[in-house]
Amino acid sequence: MRHIAKYVIDTSGGERAKFMTAKTPAGLIRLDSGSPSFATPPHIVEAVKKAIDEGHTGYILEKGVMPLLEAICESIAAETGATIAPSQVLITNGSSSGIYAVMSCFLDPGDEVIVFNPSYSLYPHVARQIGAVPVAVSHKPDYQLDIEAVRRAITPRTRLVMLNNPNNPTGVVYKEEDISALLDLCAEKDLLLASDEAYCKLMQPGQVHVPVLKYHRHLDRLILLGTFSKSYAMTGWRLGYVVAPPDLIDYLYGIHRSINGPICNFVQRAGIAALRGPQDCIAEFNKIYKTRASLMHRLASAIPGLYPAQPQGAFYLWTRFDLPQSAREVKARLFERGVAVRSGSEYGTGGEKHLRISYSVSEETIEKGMTVIADVIRDLAKEAA
Ligand SMILES: Cc1ncc(COP(=O)(O)O)c(C=O)c1O
Repeated sequence: MRHIAKYVIDTSGGERAKFMTAKTPAGLIRLDSGSPSFATPPHIVEAVKKAIDEGHTGYILEKGVMPLLEAICESIAAETGATIAPSQVLITNGSSSGIYAVMSCFLDPGDEVIVFNPSYSLYPHVARQIGAVPVAVSHKPDYQLDIEAVRRAITPRTRLVMLNNPNNPTGVVYKEEDISALLDLCAEKDLLLASDEAYCKLMQPGQVHVPVLKYHRHLDRLILLGTFSKSYAMTGWRLGYVVAPPDLIDYLYGIHRSINGPICNFVQRAGIAALRGPQDCIAEFNKIYKTRASLMHRLASAIPGLYPAQPQGAFYLWTRFDLPQSAREVKARLFERGVAVRSGSEYGTGGEKHLRISYSVSEETIEKGMTVIADVIRDLAKEAA
């Protein structure tokens, strides 16, 4: 057998790669998607066309094009009141490569990183790949942060906390007092905190996103992972950014650049249009997500054995199920019957007996998919009886 580097061997992307490249069975109802179902807004598309026509097609040798770095700093100032210099921003290949850069920058082999359980599966995956140890911290029963559990999980090897707000897969928006307490705990223990706020603009009515950068007293230990993917329906454009304290950002740049090189010049111009252009596209997306979320929640609540959480942000319905089968088995049975969802256990042990169902699809697809889900859950319950 060929030699594969020690830490990489257990993190093969094989199964996922096979699934991603397999031909989708005809008629499969996709309730598993992490991509918005909308087209990128036209003014953003126009900006990239113009940038290509104007010849913005060469390397960018810096951390990003200055007008984009400035636009990011301006939007952060407007949202949080924080003064961030353009030199503290690094443009990344979506936030995925930002996550990789952050973890490999601050974690030596054997170092521990706190990840909430469940949360985005890339965090433990990257941690293992670089020989670090993801330490899973459970949520409270309402899927909110459990600060005392974080305290108990901290050891002398803990270096970093990965926060994911709103949370993928639960769709929960964390409470202000818990975020504040978490940051105070990080300060007490001298830990860095990276906040992945990929879904921060996709909020259900009445929900308020609390950006970590609004806690100015903690700015020296805060790293923000941002992306255009979800808010502006730009998943395929691969545009994200990291904001970090002045003494850390250049290390992140060093790592990021060795795996990605500079990020596409003309796509960065699209980012400027997204931030500086009209924001009504986001209000429009949220209006549609509201209708879809309440439809899916209503249909799921009517299925005996499903206990869906109230959607708060992102575009995922998170539901517990009361069946003897594992989340993976339920997902496989649903797939056989023509509906793709994500098993909760993909996001950590805390996701066992849960499913993540994406409402980033039309109402018609939600209705069809939920009908099949109702049938399958009923059949599985009968088999178990
Ligand atoms: C919580 C979270 N963070 C980051 C990402 C990565 O997004 P991208 O690399 O497209 O910016 C995703 C994608 O699903 C996500 O759910």
